Amino acid sequence: MVKIFRLKSIISIKDFEREDVEYILDEAEKLENIAQSKEVSNELKGKILGLMFFEPSTRTRMSFETAMKRLGGDGIGFENSGSSSVSKGESIADTAKMFEGYCDALVIRHELEGVSKFISDIVDVPVINAGDGAGQHPTQTLLDLYTIRKEIGKIDDIKIALIGDLKYGRTVHSLSNALGLFNNIKIYLVSPPELRMPQEILIDLNKTNVEYVVADKIEDVIEDVDVLYVTRIQKERFVDVEDYIKIKGAYVINKKMLEGKDLIVMHPLPRIDEIDTDVDDTKYNKYFTQAANAVPVRMAILKTLIKNNPK
Ligand code: NCD
Repeated sequence: MVKIFRLKSIISIKDFEREDVEYILDEAEKLENIAQSKEVSNELKGKILGLMFFEPSTRTRMSFETAMKRLGGDGIGFENSGSSSVSKGESIADTAKMFEGYCDALVIRHELEGVSKFISDIVDVPVINAGDGAGQHPTQTLLDLYTIRKEIGKIDDIKIALIGDLKYGRTVHSLSNALGLFNNIKIYLVSPPELRMPQEILIDLNKTNVEYVVADKIEDVIEDVDVLYVTRIQKERFVDVEDYIKIKGAYVINKKMLEGKDLIVMHPLPRIDEIDTDVDDTKYNKYFTQAANAVPVRMAILKTLIKNNPK
């Protein structure tokens, strides 16, 4: 049976079935040679990717651009709203329509939830959500799942602790939703009481077979997990900076805590102080590999969406 990828745009991981996730991960595996060998293919020769980043980004923007270039295409765009005509008062809708005229697909990052969806409704080219406020970050989730599959050999039957800012962290929202597509998953939700996973994600999880446990301390769960998924406290989303200062540094993973354990440590990055640098040189560190995996996974996404939806 020939597999096809159903989605035209990638807005929320909640639009995915398990086979859609597997399609992208399998495609990424096939592209890994090109991603790592530093070669360039001709698959998207002459195609242009529009990168509309209204919020800061290093990895996501650079890996999308790298992925596009490795496929023989190119990228144009802006890195903050200050360097686009939005700063002159142009509407996001007008900016997006103008980009559509130049590009074969658009990647959007914005501080407001729902902006990528809004743009996907008004343009004809594929739209990729590269993070919308505290909402979703579906392509990060695909590379997280790719990393888990590669490092552990499977996504089913795993125990994972999501640690840190579960309230505002969009990566853990998307990842929780995605894990609901797999079998025999246990998630430990480790956060300070102020930064618990939003109720709507728990409601989503209740509709799946995922078993989840809310915990306060890493020490309570570390013996039982295959993956520690650590996140940054999302300072920029706090209304009162004093609340951030109280919570900052609440969870720090260090080498001593990990010794003798059979697990991997992941982090979407950037890290502030959640993972001590003494973990960097250990076998537990998979966060830099995870960041590198962004290239084959985003190559798979771009190739699939742009080839399936020629202009
Ligand atoms: C994350 C994001 O932007 O949500 N970064 C990323 O894309 N790798 C995580 C974060 O900013 O903490």
